Amino acid sequence: MHEPTADSLIGQPVDALPTPALVVESEALEHNLALLATYFASRPAKLRPHFKSHKCVTLARHQLEAGSAVGITCAKLAEAEALVAGGIRDVLIANQVVGPAKARRLAALNRSAAVRSAVDSLVNLAELGEAATAAGVTIGVLIEIDIGMHRCGVPPGEPVLALASRIRETPGLRLDGLQAYEGHLVTHPDPQERRAKVAKAMEPVQTTARLLQDAGFSCEIVSGGGTGTYDITGNLEPFTEIQAGSYALMDCSYKKVSPMFRNALFILATVISSHQHFVVADVGLKGMGNEFGLPVIAGAPRAKPRCIAEEHLPIDDLPASVGRKIRIIPSHGCTTCNLHRTMWVAHRDILVDFWPIEGSGALE
Ligand SMILES: Cc1ncc(COP(=O)(O)O)c(C=O)c1O
Repeated sequence: MHEPTADSLIGQPVDALPTPALVVESEALEHNLALLATYFASRPAKLRPHFKSHKCVTLARHQLEAGSAVGITCAKLAEAEALVAGGIRDVLIANQVVGPAKARRLAALNRSAAVRSAVDSLVNLAELGEAATAAGVTIGVLIEIDIGMHRCGVPPGEPVLALASRIRETPGLRLDGLQAYEGHLVTHPDPQERRAKVAKAMEPVQTTARLLQDAGFSCEIVSGGGTGTYDITGNLEPFTEIQAGSYALMDCSYKKVSPMFRNALFILATVISSHQHFVVADVGLKGMGNEFGLPVIAGAPRAKPRCIAEEHLPIDDLPASVGRKIRIIPSHGCTTCNLHRTMWVAHRDILVDFWPIEGSGALE
């Protein structure tokens, strides 16, 4: 007997998939995309969905088609290359693209698409400017401000003005605005406190945008925000776009912060060993991210994953015999998608499509 081909699985029940498999439930996905598209339809700020959460170009296209989106955010140059190869024409790399070789690749992308990058150093401006000039393109950049996450970015105010002046003097570069990401606050557990802390953290962004404008610099784009803060940062001046990513597929940890979105993503797994008080499923760290804790088993609230090993997931209190298929909602959707090459799409338990995860493993 031959293994089933991907095409032959279309129209089959989800349980027909070889496991472990990454599956997206289409109604939940559509709910999530429509919720944010509708939210931003009547607001000045728009969406720039983050590709790093699913790394699937077809899904990125669906996010643009859902409406209220100005383009796609991504984390890595290699993700931007996958997006442009897939026909996406407006991309923001929300990170610094550093080194002459990567600068040349970024410049090359700008021959056929608008691919902007975040910047926070003079040395990087020089590299990008040189590569852009050699390629005969202009690269649009956003100055990243550190508003308390202490990852990348310069402090607000004068340091931003200094970078802006250098951008103006650098042939091949164009200052398009600012990036400020409140990653230390997006999953703050108390919604009221989250709101107050984000509003406070973003005050310097407003002051800095004014400083830039008063000094005659353009600040058309101000980008930031995530799934847990779309309804906070998305209503704050001067933000023009929100980089939410997790909202599309969700996971079991983000669901506690943003319950309005549905869990669209699950890993289909098989019980490979069954004991009196526990069973073992055939997926572990190589098929599922776990930075935010243990996963949950869909439809089995009493089941308790005990730990997660390389290829095994022992689960207490799940009565199931060997061979049974189970659905596991990971604690972190973004790192889970990065481990898979195919996203299966299911509608009411029937497989209706499969999408390549082009950005899987795109680390450069
Ligand atoms: C720069 C940046 N923007 C936005 C996000 C938003 O992601 P999420 O929607 O998962 O909160 C992230 C997440 O890590 C990020 O790094």
